[in-house]
Amino acid sequence: MAEGTERIRVAVIGLGYVGLPLATALAAVGHTVVGVDVNAERVRQINQGQNYIPDVSDEELAELVAAGRLRATTDYEALREVEAIFICVPTPLDAMRAPDLSYIVKASEGIARRLQPGHLVILQSTTYPGTTEEVVLPILERSGLKAGVDFNLAFSPERLDPGQTGSKGWNVANTPKVVGGLTPQCTERAADLLASLGAPVHLVSAPRVAEMTKMLENIYRSVNIALVNELALLAERMQIDFWEVIEAARTKPFGFMPFYPGAGVGGHCIPVDPYYLSWKAREYDFYTKFIELAAEVNQAMPFHVVELIGQGLGRHGRALRDARVLVVGVAFKADVDDARNSPAQRVMELLLTRGAHVAYHDPYVPQFSIGGNVFYREKRTFQSLPLTDQVIRQQDCVVIVTGHHSVDYGRIVRWAPLVVDSCNATARVRNGREKIIRLGTALPR
Ligand SMILES: NC(=O)c1ccc[n+]([C@@H]2O[C@H](COP(=O)([O-])OP(=O)(O)OC[C@H]3O[C@@H](n4cnc5c(N)ncnc54)[C@H](O)[C@@H]3O)[C@@H](O)[C@H]2O)c1
Repeated sequence: MAEGTERIRVAVIGLGYVGLPLATALAAVGHTVVGVDVNAERVRQINQGQNYIPDVSDEELAELVAAGRLRATTDYEALREVEAIFICVPTPLDAMRAPDLSYIVKASEGIARRLQPGHLVILQSTTYPGTTEEVVLPILERSGLKAGVDFNLAFSPERLDPGQTGSKGWNVANTPKVVGGLTPQCTERAADLLASLGAPVHLVSAPRVAEMTKMLENIYRSVNIALVNELALLAERMQIDFWEVIEAARTKPFGFMPFYPGAGVGGHCIPVDPYYLSWKAREYDFYTKFIELAAEVNQAMPFHVVELIGQGLGRHGRALRDARVLVVGVAFKADVDDARNSPAQRVMELLLTRGAHVAYHDPYVPQFSIGGNVFYREKRTFQSLPLTDQVIRQQDCVVIVTGHHSVDYGRIVRWAPLVVDSCNATARVRNGREKIIRLGTALPR
């Protein structure tokens, strides 16, 4: 912790992918942390020193719990014993793709009932610009206390890059933070606390600026992924290897940043957050065309992957109906266990509706649920199959949706009659390349 920074008591509401790494990092630099979560099982696990988030170190969590620096509870009364409160609850979309702020509302109501003079509240959940001031603030002021006078309120987006801890090395303690408070004093107090984690803190003039910053960061990704997805489809028609193009383009040291095509976008952020902004924009008679366009291109990718599978099977004189297809990698990105909104879900649903027999393998996701929607009515849960030679040989096609680094792609290509590779996971495989159909490159003739 930076010299001179006070050690305080902090609460983190919502102990998931964002909240638990934050709670651990705060405790590790000397604050006393209580995590508040409605999930009693998660609370029990933490209090027993058991970690459930891959980006958190098992040893560190156990040590912090044993030392009394970190504990968890389902009881919001714990907020009465802290000086600062982070809100890290989910912000999903409802069935009509409108923002579902019910978790933020519930957490804010829980805080309001225990709000004390001097409390600092920092919202970290990703949301549209205006949420802190238009939704959280009025709920907190039901306490009778005045924001910016009796208590401080700020927004600071989370910039977690799941799966990167230990590889690229970015984590909650070294990734720069952005913070915008209701008043300069709110910003300053929030910035002091965030700076105690060790990373630089960038101050902005208002919560809505910080909220919009997070929107820009995620929409930037969504739009650029859509751009390479569209160009990858063109490259296929033009018989150009688009992966080779990206490798060449990234040698330019300025003005270019590589993005990669794939079976679609997934996770809790990229397929969700842009809609928070497009929904809000409509209040201003404004239509965010890039957001919609990117979603249209990205959401079409699972359909394209299924088309590639159909084409590949056709070359073998087979149809999708009754074909055995093994999906490899159902997490939304490489080397993580998070399968929320994964494009693999849509690929599997589309394969099933076309009559294929579908199974999957993912070393990080032991169980995977699909269906219950317009693409596939029935709700089904699959268990990950072991990736044995025999399992691979039994398939008519293996489709790689997410390219975890620990999977042996050489073995897949060796034993499978056909491999559809949507993420260039087989780039280094030497033998059997004639069996591979890669998204974004020419079909083998
Ligand atoms: N996962 C990421 O990579 C990531 C990155 C940046 C930002 N975010 C944003 O951070 C927020 C949290 O995402 P996450 O991935 O950590 O979600 P998560 O589902 O992993 O965790 C949320 C936790 O909040 C708990 N919870 C729900 N309602 C609660 C309530 N009323 N009171 C207390 N606890 C409650 C849940 O039980 C769960 O443990 C979202 O807004 C998300 O968009 C996520």
